[in-house]
Amino acid sequence: MHPIAQYQQFIADFLQAELELKEPRNLYEPIHYILGLGGKRIRPVLTLMTAEIFGANYQKALPAALAVEVFHNFSLIHDDIMDDAPLRRGHETVHEKWNVNTGILSGDAMLILAYQYFERYQPAVFKELAQLFSKTALEVCEGQQWDVDFENRDDVSQEQYLKMIEYKTAVLVAAAMKMGAIIAETTEQNAALIYDFGRHLGLAFQLQDDYLDAFGDPETFGKQVGGDIIENKKTYLYLKALEFASPKDREQLLHLYSIRPEDNTDKINSVKLIFNQTGAVTATKAAIEDYTQRAFLTLEALSIAPEKKAILRQFGEGLMARKV
Ligand code: IPE
Ligand code: IPE
Ligand code: MG
Ligand code: MG
Ligand code: MG
Repeated sequence: MHPIAQYQQFIADFLQAELELKEPRNLYEPIHYILGLGGKRIRPVLTLMTAEIFGANYQKALPAALAVEVFHNFSLIHDDIMDDAPLRRGHETVHEKWNVNTGILSGDAMLILAYQYFERYQPAVFKELAQLFSKTALEVCEGQQWDVDFENRDDVSQEQYLKMIEYKTAVLVAAAMKMGAIIAETTEQNAALIYDFGRHLGLAFQLQDDYLDAFGDPETFGKQVGGDIIENKKTYLYLKALEFASPKDREQLLHLYSIRPEDNTDKINSVKLIFNQTGAVTATKAAIEDYTQRAFLTLEALSIAPEKKAILRQFGEGLMARKV
């Protein structure tokens, strides 16, 4: 096993070695741009870590790890178009720096590139990886469609919200880990358990993403703070606020989420005040903790050394403490 920073370096080096800047420039430059902005790279780190946890060398997992990261970055380019987001990782989003059409096509190319990395594996492993990937990618699309559909609805339930974030975010974290298990050719039981660990961690991760979107530090967050509020996203904060609000606050929140003002400063501040006063913030923090603990519970059943469980635990705790 290696420290997390080391896995991140392995991914950066592999990316550098693999990606060529070809013609046409306007197709490939945005791909280099977004991947060059880095990010936390948690998904490919998890693929490498999981492969090693189940006894394979991380090098064997590099193509799959990169596939997951390229897919993730593709989904971010398209997500930023859909969310009308100006900022990603502290820099202009692809559709702002180039234009929407460029973002669409460079994103499409990245989805194809991601598939190509699986061709590095032998037929049996290739088939398993490709099947898992296709299923996951389709679920991400389903989650993303719900996310957008929910913007214009005021009757979203917490159950529907949880399903939406499971699909748009958690399944990719889960699949990233299961790919490491597949490459290491561990038991099906271990592969299923690690998928479930990743899924719960992914749910906690998206809950925290929702929290940071409203309450992150604009200096360091790297995305537009308040973007979800501007877009009337039905986040956990919002749903809990509605659940806990007095009739007056409820009415105000519903009103604020029905408007799209030119200047969003007042809207964002008023919504955040309601999120705080209703206890929605406290409830969101508790849910992040709860899903992380549920992830840790699935670790119990895994047949791996206690030191390896400790590493996964540490990773989960690190995610909970994140500010970006
Ligand atoms: C952002 O993912 C999109 C979500 C699913 C919340 P990350 O927070 O992993 O973004 P980067 O890759 O580190 O920038
Ligand atoms: C993104 O959810 C999920 C995917 C990209 C599939 P968000 O829209 O919350 O992600 P951010 O906050 O823009 O990174
Ligand atoms: Mg977004
Ligand atoms: Mg989105
Ligand atoms: Mg978000």
